[in-house]
Amino acid sequence: MDPYIKGNQELWNEWADINYHSDFYDVAGFVAHPINFPEGGIIRAGVGDVAGKSLLHLQCHFGKDTLRFALLGAHVTGIDFSEQAIGYARELANRMQLPATFIQTALYDLPQHLTEQFDVVFTSQGVLGWLPDLQRWGQIVAQFLKPGGTFFILEGHPTMLMFDEESAELRLKYSYFHSDDPIVIEPHSGNYADPTATVTHREYSWQHSMADIVNALLTHGLQIEYLREYPFMGWQGFPALVQQDGEWSMPADQPQLPLSFAIRAHKPEV
Ligand SMILES: C[S@@+](CC[C@H](N)C(=O)[O-])C[C@H]1O[C@@H](n2cnc3c(N)ncnc32)[C@H](O)[C@@H]1O
Repeated sequence: MDPYIKGNQELWNEWADINYHSDFYDVAGFVAHPINFPEGGIIRAGVGDVAGKSLLHLQCHFGKDTLRFALLGAHVTGIDFSEQAIGYARELANRMQLPATFIQTALYDLPQHLTEQFDVVFTSQGVLGWLPDLQRWGQIVAQFLKPGGTFFILEGHPTMLMFDEESAELRLKYSYFHSDDPIVIEPHSGNYADPTATVTHREYSWQHSMADIVNALLTHGLQIEYLREYPFMGWQGFPALVQQDGEWSMPADQPQLPLSFAIRAHKPEV
């Protein structure tokens, strides 16, 4: 395995433990009231009716959204490279008595574990920056979609990822454009779900422009139905953002930035 991906796998095993026990992920609340997607209906509307459909969730973490789709009647498969996250996902599915398949694999290795194609491929919220090569990601999305199938992503906006995550003032820190060299963040206390947690591993991440994201899908034959940009996001990407109704955005009296985006696309019928 690529050493950067291996490093991120160790980080995500550590973060999965932190996240599973965090208020941010509120696992107890989820088990009690699992059906509401937190993003104001964007995911439900974007993925559409899943009853009776097969759904592949890429980078599923510990499967909250995967299990929400199972509750809506989808036949779900979630994949993630973190053993810890996949262990928790299986535990949650058992506890909630929901049928779900969870596979522990790095995204680029998925073809070694799965041959089936799906009606829906879904991924969301903090996934692309961990992947060094989006063309390989687009290839995986296309490979696992049935002809006529739907792809949906809700993700942090590439512009949002340019800002200094530590500065109280809005300050540019990272280039908008991709570089093959990863951004390396040394271990520091806290993560997005728990600012007090102890973390011992480095983070390796990559910027991808909106053109990189769109072209990764177009190159592999997907047809884009829409690309939407939103002035809010699901976590505090940088300190200038304020929380309102569970989402984070620029204060209302400030110029607004694109903080997240959604793409709905289809694989053409043959
Ligand atoms: C921020 S989480 C996704 C959040 C998830 N959508 C949710 O709502 O809980 C990112 C996930 O990507 C996974 N991941 C990162 N790099 C990966 C890779 N190369 N292959 C597979 N999974 C990866 C991590 O283990 C983590 O579970």
